[in-house]
Amino acid sequence: MVKMFKQAPLPFIGQKRMFLNQFKQVLNDNISGDGEGWTIIDAFGGSGLLSHTAKRLKPKARVIYNDFDGYAERLTHINDINRLRRLIFSLLDNCTKNKRIPANVKNQVVDVIKNFDGYINLHILCSWLCFSGKQIKTLDELFRQDFWQCIYRKDVDDVINLIKPWLDDMLRGEQRAIFEDKYACRIGEQNGKMIEFIIARIDDDFFNSTDLVRFVVCRHSVTKQRAWDLVSGQGNPPQVPFCAVQLMTNNVVIDDLAVMPMFGDFERCIAWTWLDSKTI
Ligand SMILES: C[S@@+](CC[C@H](N)C(=O)[O-])C[C@H]1O[C@@H](n2cnc3c(N)ncnc32)[C@H](O)[C@@H]1O
Repeated sequence: MVKMFKQAPLPFIGQKRMFLNQFKQVLNDNISGDGEGWTIIDAFGGSGLLSHTAKRLKPKARVIYNDFDGYAERLTHINDINRLRRLIFSLLDNCTKNKRIPANVKNQVVDVIKNFDGYINLHILCSWLCFSGKQIKTLDELFRQDFWQCIYRKDVDDVINLIKPWLDDMLRGEQRAIFEDKYACRIGEQNGKMIEFIIARIDDDFFNSTDLVRFVVCRHSVTKQRAWDLVSGQGNPPQVPFCAVQLMTNNVVIDDLAVMPMFGDFERCIAWTWLDSKTI
């Protein structure tokens, strides 16, 4: 089977992974069948994700990818990039994701980069170590920056793979136990554009449950009001895509407070997993 990538295989700031469905829609609306006789030009090619998607969707079309950034060359060094990622990541055990890396750890990271005997790419280092979206031109300039723990992509992918079967169970109507069978999550209202999850505490007899948290993930503006209403949102709904949470405070007991931070992590993971499943 030919693989269809849903995201660029190496980090690329500005890749259009969250817009793949809309992009496919435009292709299908304008080009019928397998694309025979068509030429699709990806002028601002970036990671090539859109060229790749176009070629997979319309295999007979001629797809021209303008590789302005030399992304294809980066892909040939993927083993070195992974090796460097692992070396840096192993230093960041005590660093919090998306937080500043302490100076002593930063110095170790700089040493690893300086001593690395393989391919080094600034764009990739920047996506791992710099504050969101920053662009750097030289290694010296990079080393003058504060470093941030942004090496997240692989972990996010791993979590998505891990949690995907949970989502599948819930989509089949099952209640999915989380946190030692004391709490469970189920899906409420859903369509392709939004989804509602409810986390409940399971009573000791396992027959009853008490709803604690309702959260929605919405990826399309036509359902944003409905999603917002489900969590009793005040004022106008946010821009899509968004995730919003309502805590049913009247139902919460003291024991639940200890697991609330874990609920937050779970909500983010399941939200990403659902969004990811929609960009296949
Ligand atoms: C937003 S990114 C493209 C993202 C891409 N569609 C993807 O999904 O990965 C815009 C790209 O246009 C490139 N670019 C900027 N100026 C350009 C130019 N004058 N000619 C061609 N490409 C250019 C940038 O280097 C960047 O790779």
